[in-house]
Order: sequence, then structure tokens, then C-alpha cells
Amino acid sequence: MRVGVFDSGVGGQSLVNLIRKELPELQVVYKEDHENIPYGTKAPAELLELVLPLLMELATKVDLIVIACNTVSTTLIDALREKLDVPLIAMEPMIKPAAEQTQTRTIAVCATPTTLSSKRYLWLKAQYAKNVRVIEPDCSDWAYMIESNTTDHKQIEQRIAEVCESGADIIVLGCTHYHWIEDDIQAIANRFKATVIQPEKAIIGQIRRVLSRLG
Ligand code: DGL
Repeated sequence: MRVGVFDSGVGGQSLVNLIRKELPELQVVYKEDHENIPYGTKAPAELLELVLPLLMELATKVDLIVIACNTVSTTLIDALREKLDVPLIAMEPMIKPAAEQTQTRTIAVCATPTTLSSKRYLWLKAQYAKNVRVIEPDCSDWAYMIESNTTDHKQIEQRIAEVCESGADIIVLGCTHYHWIEDDIQAIANRFKATVIQPEKAIIGQIRRVLSRLG
């Protein structure tokens, strides 16, 4: 079976590595759109124009596509499901598990501006985090920094320390680019006994389930 993984840039590569480790029998086809990064500051209509042709092409080569981009998943998944014939797995911020796990009733969501303003994200918050304070630190330049290898570790340390000092005990990584700095973020969070979560492991389970349905 062939699985397609799509992201604007290197974010999805982190998931590709995990798929290769956990599901070595699968062939993985990775598609990125490095020249148009960052996606996370673009409007949904512009994103749709960029991603649709790329995903249509990818869909001709694979049995299933993982949209390894929270920005595209939270803004376009319904439109994409209407237009593409292959099953799509979306990656989106883990609001529900975070709201269930928090002891301080405060969580932080690190995500792009487009994700944070998407209808789907606002719905997730209204549905699952009604009684939880959700802090959304400014991460607007993180994806670009990670993509271009110019990560400002001091800025990231400051943002994470701030949300922990404000009481967040669960930090949600809501952009796949941030998976590359997960260890750094967890190291800062450890000082405050906070936990960092992201959905890659759950996505592996979802890939297994969808592929077993396809036979
Ligand atoms: N990696 C993508 C995400 O999960 C977006 C990064 C970007 O291009 O801004 O949201």
C-alpha cells in the first residue's frame, strides 16, 4: 500500500520518519510545497489554490493521504474531501486530549495564525475546551524559522516559559514544523512540570485503521 504525506515543508517529514519506523511495509510518497512556505499566514482561498493541484497529483499515486499540516487540515479538509477520491487523514491541534489531561485548567496551543483563526479550531475549542483557559502564544514566525534553519531558540524559550508561568500544564504542538523542536520545548516545559503533546502516534493508529478498511 502507498501512503501520501503532504505538508508545506519539512513539518511532514517528521511524520514520514515515524511511518517508516512503525509501518515499514508501506511505501511513503512525500509531497511538500517549500517555495510557498509559510502556509500559516495565508488565507484559506489562497491555500486551496496552492494545495489542490498538488494533492490531486499525489492522489493519483497513493491509496491514502495524510494532510500533515494543521493549517491545511483545519481550514480546508471538508473542501478537499469533496474534491479528492482517496481517503484523507487530517492532523489538527489536540484540544480534546489536552483539555482532558490538564490539572490546572489551562493549556497552551502553539499553532499558526491561520490555524488559530480557522472555523474548525474555534469549533474544537468550543466543543472540548469550554471550561479550560486556552493560551495561544505568538508562533507566527516559527514555521518559517524551522524551515529555513534560523530558529531563534531564545524567542521560543521565552514564549514557552511565559505560557508555563501563566499556568499552562499541557502544551499542544498544533503545527507539524514544531515537532522538530519538540525536545527543546519539552526541556523548557520540564522546568515547570508541563507536558508537550502532538498527534503523530495517534495518526499512525489512524493510518492502520483506514488501510485495514481499504483491505
Ligand atoms: N506545518 C504546517 C502546519 O502544521 C504549516 C507550516 C507553515 O507553512 O506555516 O500547520
